[in-house]
Amino acid sequence: MKVAVLGAAGGIGQALSLLLKTQLPAGSELALYDVAPVVPGVAVDLSHIPTAVKVTGHGKDDLAGALTGTDVVLIPAGVPRKPGMDRSDLFNINAGIVKNLIEGVADNCPDACVGIITNPVNTTVAIAAETLKAKGVYNKNKLFGVTTLDVIRAETFVAELKDVDVASVHVPVIGGHSGTTILPLLSQVEGVEFSDDEVSSLTTRIQNAGTEVVEAKAGGGSATLSMGQAAARFCLSLVAAMQGENVVEYTYVQTDDSDDAAFFAHPVRLGANGVEEILPYGELSEFEEKAKNDMLEGLRGDIKLGVDFVTG
Ligand code: NAD
Ligand code: LMR
Repeated sequence: MKVAVLGAAGGIGQALSLLLKTQLPAGSELALYDVAPVVPGVAVDLSHIPTAVKVTGHGKDDLAGALTGTDVVLIPAGVPRKPGMDRSDLFNINAGIVKNLIEGVADNCPDACVGIITNPVNTTVAIAAETLKAKGVYNKNKLFGVTTLDVIRAETFVAELKDVDVASVHVPVIGGHSGTTILPLLSQVEGVEFSDDEVSSLTTRIQNAGTEVVEAKAGGGSATLSMGQAAARFCLSLVAAMQGENVVEYTYVQTDDSDDAAFFAHPVRLGANGVEEILPYGELSEFEEKAKNDMLEGLRGDIKLGVDFVTG
């Protein structure tokens, strides 16, 4: 299995690469690509950790070297938010970065599974899909928006509030990855009960958790360490599924569901070829149904922005 991290010298990229160096199956390869000149050094640094994962570093002129033969591509390249910004404010810079990198994927590893981390995810995943379509290599089963951070945050916050073992808490999170498009399904959490006030405040905290980090970092960026952990979990699940294990993760995929949006985070059964099956997200409470209906127009608009960016 070869995994490539594009944007590997950044805050997320370095944390993610460390976790993959220590946790990918023995015999895997990890290719690190970034436009920052430090990337070969990050690769040398990681290569001194004694695991059976081979690490290579690729500078700005060697995207092809990073991507050739790759099975899984993870993309955290691009700028993060500062206080006062929405994720959509990153569109102007990050849209072009994602489009260029995906063109590289299309040219060098068109069969790879691709996980997009770069914000605004609601839009950058649509940009990736349209870019791959324009290159004639789009496979909707192999493109994912990584929304795992919303899941791990929701699980952490529920465990804290209810004083239960976080390992036993599972929280479905559907929709998109920004503000109210992030929709935790607290009605489906087993083994705990929530008051209406708790549902309302917990939902808002999960939706604003990214902003909580951005404000706490006070201009120094957004979540990197928790995102590194979330992306590593997603990647390791995907790798395990590609090697035959039965794994379900919540992730933002093309659903073709005209009732929701063209891309929507669902529980997804992963397999050898990426998406094996998009599972239904089950029954929603009245609160969740209203929250979903209220956010759909915004999510569809975010997706359209991405489609229009590529198709003009
Ligand atoms: P960062 O600034 O620390 O790192 C970004 C890296 O991308 C830098 O090393 C930079 O050199 C590199 N880069 C820029 N343009 C590039 C290009 N064309 N090719 C390759 N590399 C390039 O930022 P970060 O904190 O790691 O965040 C990265 C992105 O991830 C941001 O857009 C952020 O909003 C997003 N993010 C997403 C989630 C999520 O849940 N999906 C969570 C946290 C952050
Ligand atoms: C997050 O949820 O932490 C990321 O999307 C980064 C951000 O800008 O909030």
